Amino acid sequence: MLDKNMELISSAVIAILGCVALFLFLQWKNFRRPPCIRGWIPWVGAGLEFGKAPLEFIENARIKYGPIFTVFAMGNRMTFVTEEEGINVFLKSKNVNFELAVENTVHRTASIPKNIFLTLHEKLNVIMKGKMGTVNLYQFPGQMTEELHEQLENLGTHGTMDLNNLVRHLLYPVTVNVLFNKGLFPTNERKIKEFYQHFQTYDEGFEYGSQMPEYLLRNWSKSKKWFLALFEKNIPDIKTYKSAKGNSMTLFQAVMDIIEKITNEQNCPNYGLLMLWASLSNAVPVAFWTLAFILSHSNIHKAIMEDISSVFGTAGKDRIKVSEDELEKLLLIKWCILETIRLRAPGVISRKVMKPVKILNYIIPSGDLLMLSPFWLHRNPKYFPEPELFKPERWKKANLKKHAFLDCFMAFGNGKSQCPGRNS
Ligand code: HEM
Repeated sequence: MLDKNMELISSAVIAILGCVALFLFLQWKNFRRPPCIRGWIPWVGAGLEFGKAPLEFIENARIKYGPIFTVFAMGNRMTFVTEEEGINVFLKSKNVNFELAVENTVHRTASIPKNIFLTLHEKLNVIMKGKMGTVNLYQFPGQMTEELHEQLENLGTHGTMDLNNLVRHLLYPVTVNVLFNKGLFPTNERKIKEFYQHFQTYDEGFEYGSQMPEYLLRNWSKSKKWFLALFEKNIPDIKTYKSAKGNSMTLFQAVMDIIEKITNEQNCPNYGLLMLWASLSNAVPVAFWTLAFILSHSNIHKAIMEDISSVFGTAGKDRIKVSEDELEKLLLIKWCILETIRLRAPGVISRKVMKPVKILNYIIPSGDLLMLSPFWLHRNPKYFPEPELFKPERWKKANLKKHAFLDCFMAFGNGKSQCPGRNS
């Protein structure tokens, strides 16, 4: 009897010791992970607080937890890196991956099946980089100024409109007609209004649309479907469109060509929507903010006007044609655009961790999303002195002739998945 009891007690002791060892092992493993902000609601985690004001959340977490920390939200572990060692891993490690970080977003926001996205990504990336690469850039200024003139004529010479609306009214049709094909942008008043409204709804809800089921976002879903239908209706025209000047295919024609060869035509409207969003969602606000910064710095405004007169002569009614060579001479404008992009850079870019990576003394487990915030990186005085000031002259140091930006400028991402539209 005593022996039996002893046996029971020693099994219990072994089991308890085993549990303690397992607990300590898990603690040790967690100890080697970055601090984690997980909130108190299961699965949602810190999602609500994070979703309310993500940029402030990231900066407050950096101040509280240091250069690397994890946020658990909506079932995802997002590990943020804010300083050199983490940034290097983000940009250079073979164990982190762009496609797998964005496949869910692409699937939810443009209904592109994940296997199709993964099959096509590399090839589409190459074609877009080529079409918008530095050797082909000369094609854009001419086409864009012609389109701009047309839009300006439609606006007339009088009237009032807020700057943001004006920029959108000019740049949406110009971008769509140049990148897709002339005539895709609607010409009738009612349809134009619909286009603006649907794009605004789609763009503003993009972040939610990338995380939540579509049936919970009725208006957003309606706008998404409106664009898919617009592209579907126009695919035959886009395919057969040939520019009067006999230029090679438009960017979207080249993209469609690859999609059709490797998969089938059915996926074209979805890629149309994705490309529409990629091209308009950053470039149009940047154009607005560049004008706003210039207009609110009278010395810079004056210098720019003088530069423009020295290249094109004084203002008149002529249809100015802008070439790549002339743009090269307007260096201050380029600096202003880059300085605006620095200050209005995307909130975050992400990579999926495929195999555990070591950053500082921490191990980031596979499955985590590694996150980098260009917005905050550009506000670190270590990399950009007086970061909150609009100082175009800081770009004097960048080797723009060789298309190199300033160190730690990350608005277009970096490496293999860098934005293909960054030079246009
Ligand atoms: C100021 C304007 C722009 C900004 C700030 C910007 C920013 C970005 C960023 C941060 C990325 C992700 C890079 C990464 O994760 O490493 C990206 C990707 C991309 N951008 Fe842009 N972008 C701009 C303009 C454009 C334009 C005009 C186009 C024209 C089509 C474009 C097309 C794309 C595409 C297709 C991708 C995905 C690349 C891939 O899948 O590999 N972007 N952009």
